[in-house]
Amino acid sequence: MPSREDVSYFGAGPAPLPTSVLEEASKVLLNYNDMGIGIAEISHRSPEANKVLADTKHALISLLDIPEDYEILFLQGGGSGEFSAAVYHMVSIWVEKCRKRLETEIEQEVATKRLRKKVMEGLKLDYLVTGSWSLKASQEAARLVGAEHVNIALDARKDNDGKFGKIPAEDQWSLTPTKREDGQGPAMVYYCDNETVDGVEFPSFPASLESKSENDDRLVVADMSSNFISRKVDVRKYAVIFGGAQKNIGNTGITIIILRKSLLPPQSELASPQLLRSLGLPIGPVVLDWPTIAKNNSLYNTLPIFDVWVAGRVMQGLNNTYQAKKILGQEGISQKKSDMIYGVLDKYPNVYKVVPDKSVRSRMNICVRIHGADPEKEKEFLDGASKSNLLGLKGHRSVGGVRVSNYNAVPIPAVEKLTEYLESYARKSANT
Ligand SMILES: Cc1ncc(COP(=O)(O)O)c(C=O)c1O
Repeated sequence: MPSREDVSYFGAGPAPLPTSVLEEASKVLLNYNDMGIGIAEISHRSPEANKVLADTKHALISLLDIPEDYEILFLQGGGSGEFSAAVYHMVSIWVEKCRKRLETEIEQEVATKRLRKKVMEGLKLDYLVTGSWSLKASQEAARLVGAEHVNIALDARKDNDGKFGKIPAEDQWSLTPTKREDGQGPAMVYYCDNETVDGVEFPSFPASLESKSENDDRLVVADMSSNFISRKVDVRKYAVIFGGAQKNIGNTGITIIILRKSLLPPQSELASPQLLRSLGLPIGPVVLDWPTIAKNNSLYNTLPIFDVWVAGRVMQGLNNTYQAKKILGQEGISQKKSDMIYGVLDKYPNVYKVVPDKSVRSRMNICVRIHGADPEKEKEFLDGASKSNLLGLKGHRSVGGVRVSNYNAVPIPAVEKLTEYLESYARKSANT
C-alpha cells in the first residue's frame, strides 16, 4: 500500500492539499485551540469561528490585494450554485435600474407596462462559452430566465469543428452593446477563466470587456473555480469573481465570492420579489442571495467552519511562502510547472497531442490525447502511470483522454516524476 509520500496526485478536483495543512487539520479536528472539542464541532457563531472567518478573509485579501470596496462571501452550493446566484442577482439589479428610469419618466401604471416590454425586449445576459463549464452556466441562465434573454456572445466550438479548444479573436464576439438606445447594456457578461474539462484558459483579461468609462461598465462575472489564486488578477476589472474551493484553495464544501460592494444594497437597489414575480422572472433561494449572505457576514445559515479554516491555512501558507511577492510567487511556480509538462508533451508530437490551441493552453488542466486518441494506448498510459503512483490523470468522462491537473498543491518533485514518466512512455512507444 502506497503512503502519501509515495503518491503524486493530479486530480482535477477534489485535488491535493498541502500535507502540512492536513496534518494540522487532523489535530484541530480533535481539539481546536485547546478547547477539548474539534473545529468541526464548534458553533459557527462562536468567537473562535468568527476569528477563523476573519483570518481566512484576511489571507485572501492579502494574497490577491483585494481592494476595500470589494466584499468576500463564503457560501455552499459549489460553483454550480453560483451559476444560478449570478443570474438572480444581476437580473434583479438590471430590472430595478430599468424600473427606476421609467418611473422618473412616466406615471406608475404606464411604467409597469413599459417595464414588461423593456424586460422582454431588452434583458440580456452575455455569455462567452469557451468550454463545458461556461456552457453549463449559460444553460442554467436559459433555464432560469429563458433562452431569449441569454446572448451567447461567443460559442468557441463554432470555430473549431464543434469542439472546445480555441478562443476566437475578440472582434468575432457579439457582445450586447453597453450604450443602447434605452441606456441599458447587458445585465452582466459572464465567462469562465479556466475551463477545467477542456484545458482552455484565458491568457489575460479580455480587452473588449475593459470598462471605457464609469457608465460603460460591463459588470464582468468570472468563474475562477479552477485557477483561483494561481496568478495575479486585477480584481477591479470584475464585478464578481467566484470559485469552489476544492481545486486550488481547500477541500470541497465552500464557494468563495469576491463581489464589488457597489452591487450590494444600499448602493445597488434590487427589484422586489413582487416585481420579479409579476414580470415572470425568478426569485432565488435565500441561501444563494448575495445581499443576505453579505449582511450576515456569511453566517446566514450554518457555514462549514472547518472548510473555511482549511482554505485560510492554505492561503496563509502561500502568503508565508511568497511574502512580499504574494500571488506573483505562486504564479511563477504554476508557470514553471506547466512549462515543464507542456515541454515534454511538445517534444513527442507523434505520441502526445495537446488538445487546445497553444494560445489558450491552461496552466492548470493540461488535456492531452495519446497516439491519436487510441483508447487502448490511453488505457496503457494510464495503467502505467498508476503503477508508478502517478494518480488522477484520467480525462473528464465527457471528453476522455488524459488530463494533468497542475494545481498549487502539486509540488515540483511530483511534476518531475510525471515528466520522467512522460519521457519514458514516449521513448518506449517510439521503439515499439
Ligand atoms: C470551472 C468550474 N466551474 C464550476 C464547477 C462546478 O463546481 P461544483 O462542482 O463545485 O458545483 C467546476 C467543477 O469542477 C469547474 O471546474
